[in-house]
Amino acid sequence: MFRLFETLLEVDHEIFDAIVADIERQNLYLNLIASENYTSLAVLAALANPMQNKYAEGYPSRRYYGGCDFVDIAERLAIERAKQLFNAEHANVQPHAGVQANMAVYFACLEHNDVILAPALAHGGHLSHGAPITASGKFYRVVQYGVNKENETIDFDQVHQLAREHKPKLIICGYSAYSRVVEFDKFREIADGVGALLLADIAHIAGLVAAGAHPSPVPYSDFVTTTTHKTLRGPRGALILCKSEWAQAIDKAVFPGNQGGPFMHVIAAKAVCFKEAMSEEFRQDQFQTVANARALAEELQRQGFRIVSGGTDNHLMLVDLRPFNPNLTGADAEKLLQRAHIIVNKNAIPFDERPPMKASGIRIGTPACTTRKMREDEMKLIGRWIAKVLRDPEDETIEQVRNEVVELCQQFPVYAELWETMKSLREEAIVKSS
Ligand SMILES: Cc1ncc(COP(=O)(O)O)c(C=O)c1O
Repeated sequence: MFRLFETLLEVDHEIFDAIVADIERQNLYLNLIASENYTSLAVLAALANPMQNKYAEGYPSRRYYGGCDFVDIAERLAIERAKQLFNAEHANVQPHAGVQANMAVYFACLEHNDVILAPALAHGGHLSHGAPITASGKFYRVVQYGVNKENETIDFDQVHQLAREHKPKLIICGYSAYSRVVEFDKFREIADGVGALLLADIAHIAGLVAAGAHPSPVPYSDFVTTTTHKTLRGPRGALILCKSEWAQAIDKAVFPGNQGGPFMHVIAAKAVCFKEAMSEEFRQDQFQTVANARALAEELQRQGFRIVSGGTDNHLMLVDLRPFNPNLTGADAEKLLQRAHIIVNKNAIPFDERPPMKASGIRIGTPACTTRKMREDEMKLIGRWIAKVLRDPEDETIEQVRNEVVELCQQFPVYAELWETMKSLREEAIVKSS
């Protein structure tokens, strides 16, 4: 693999330098973005493989191109492993990303203007669940549910009532910013009551589900979509699982319905990711991710922040900044923390009065820190550092915290050997050329 980078340096030192700089950033910043992770070198190696050259429209043994024998092996392995990992009847491993996976499900089971009952963006849903500015919002009639004001958990009375009133053809459960267990069985009951299909979008929690750290939606859902690059820790991409009766419709909706040639190198990397996700180490990391999120949420509460819904059951939390400082916006907090090498994203909290680009909250996740083997003790430190920066955002305080963050990050390196090798290759090249 390192030889590949040597070649890259010979051909394009500008891109090489940008990659080294980003590996340095990944090493020296605390990544608390809930949707990001550090994938393994094995996955990276599969991503850099020459299968990327192959056109393979269609499915294993049913391709529109010759020469697909070996990419068929990769796709079959990915499909079989995905089915085994999630105990699913059918898997399509071709979607390029989470949005495409969701669009393929809509295309498979809905007609133009059919009604979808979906989570509101402002209450934790995703754009591809029918936001008006997206294709999903333009092609379908979308009715939105949210969380209730009292405990900020899914308002099942509202879901029930909207389902009865609007008779949706599809109900979606699954979120980008929701920290509690999703009760898939309750959604199934409501869907059955009105004859709706059920889609569980587990893009965020797929790793937890695979490990048994969150209940599985598979027994309850007609369709399950997920990205492969968040808690699942694989390559960028997505996956659709469904009951056998929907297998043909889903495969047709992905190709030719929504996509052209599959990315065969990414599919090979997905196969590697699914294999890794069956390991004991992965299982333990997923439970640790949840334990870390709990520890961090508790520390933030001790420091005077409010955690939306009172805590977390998964890998993320939404932090309401208002009790800590009513004038502090999520946008400001994100910027201040970045100066201290702590990366979070601003996020609207339910019933937020501020516009989304300012927001009253930040979203914090523990998958990436857990992959670099940080534990509860480190989470407590991080919680204190966040409070320190936001309590006293003076240059001196920020610099002090930044130094401590960098020191901690150096104790938990990522891609250490790759980084060292790339730096020495660059130094050698500079010496040679001078
Ligand atoms: C719940 C959910 N669904 C779908 C997506 C879309 O995934 P992608 O960015 O790969 O299109 C996301 C991305 O954050 C998500 O959180």
